[in-house]
Amino acid sequence: MKFKSLKIKLTILISLVLIGTVALLTFITFKNVDNRILQPIQNFELSQPAAPSTPTEDLSDVAPVVTSPAEEIQGLNKNFQLSYVYWMIGIALLGILICYYLIQKNLKSLLTLKNSVQDVNEHRLSSRIDLPNKEDEVGQLAHEYNLMLERLEQSFAYQKSFAENAAHELKTPLTTMKLNLQILDLEEKPTLDDYKEHHDISKNSINQLIDIVDQLLLVSNNELLQNIEEISLDLLIMDLVTLNETDAIEKNIELTHQGTPVKIIGNKVLLTQALNNIINNGIKYTPANGAINISYSKTKENIMIKVTDNGIGIDQKDIPFLFEPFYRVDESRTRSLGGSGLGLSLTKKIIDMHHGKIKVTSTLNEGSVFQIILPLTSR
Ligand SMILES: Nc1ncnc2c1ncn2[C@@H]1O[C@H](COP(=O)(O)OP(=O)(O)OP(=O)(O)O)[C@@H](O)[C@H]1O
Ligand SMILES: [Mg+2]
Repeated sequence: MKFKSLKIKLTILISLVLIGTVALLTFITFKNVDNRILQPIQNFELSQPAAPSTPTEDLSDVAPVVTSPAEEIQGLNKNFQLSYVYWMIGIALLGILICYYLIQKNLKSLLTLKNSVQDVNEHRLSSRIDLPNKEDEVGQLAHEYNLMLERLEQSFAYQKSFAENAAHELKTPLTTMKLNLQILDLEEKPTLDDYKEHHDISKNSINQLIDIVDQLLLVSNNELLQNIEEISLDLLIMDLVTLNETDAIEKNIELTHQGTPVKIIGNKVLLTQALNNIINNGIKYTPANGAINISYSKTKENIMIKVTDNGIGIDQKDIPFLFEPFYRVDESRTRSLGGSGLGLSLTKKIIDMHHGKIKVTSTLNEGSVFQIILPLTSR
């Protein structure tokens, strides 16, 4: 026979243990009484000399039947045994009842836990289990379960806002293209210049879309760290300076770099992207005639890269959120500069993958310092 309920199983188990203990106790007690009291008395009686024989007379009518002390004690023992067994059965039954009550009481919290787990789905993650006893194992399990729900809720909220932001970012260039085409449709006799103008706008929007999709793919890809190689950091930074020179010259921003030649192990494409995001931000968020400096140095265990600008700076309250996808300090301003708010989140992801750290210090209207620390043995 199979019992599905834990309550019944536990009660049966404890009952069996109780009954077994009671039976064992009864057996030991009876054995003791027999060995220590009855046996010595019987032995004593047997060792007494037999009483002198008297002429046989039938005295049964006149004298009461005389029982020996051993027989008397045996009779008493029987009574004792009977009442002992009754008491033990009583105690065992009481024990079983108490056990059943306690098991039922304790399993109630497990039942509450089970019902709460059944209620959870992706739309209902805010419920929490509140058990009266938080100290016992079930209470601790419920506590851990509540913490897990909290993490899941945050993760779902993050995924949701990520998807919303991604859709929003993708929609902007698409809307621009659509409007552009509608305007062209309204032209009665569009000239070649009209076509060229709208072609350029659409091309820009398409490039913007490709950039966003590329960044999204990188942000959501967890298996980026292939193609590990030895990289000359100084050469990589020189390439980045060349890449950003045109933008810097356009704003008359001085772009300098210095450091000792150093080798690093990592993914060249990703590290280039990570550093380029920071340098590119420096140029974007530094007004004309500003200055950006890139410096790198090596310690015993780490490589430190610093990008310093004297741009618009970042308010302290915004710093903790800078590395979150789609976060922009000033929506309208940065949007007009063509930013989607993915650059720094991607940079952080790449640095994390290389087991490094990224820190920001900034003063509003004075400038910012982005510091990257990579372990020398970084992968
Ligand atoms: N050097 C900086 N000076 C001032 N503000 C900065 C600097 N770097 C980043 N920020 C702020 O941090 C925000 C997030 O930067 P991030 O690089 O992630 O996005 P973005 O530059 O707006 O867009 P994207 O890099 O995707 O094109 C920016 O919008 C900007 O407000
Ligand atoms: Mg950026």
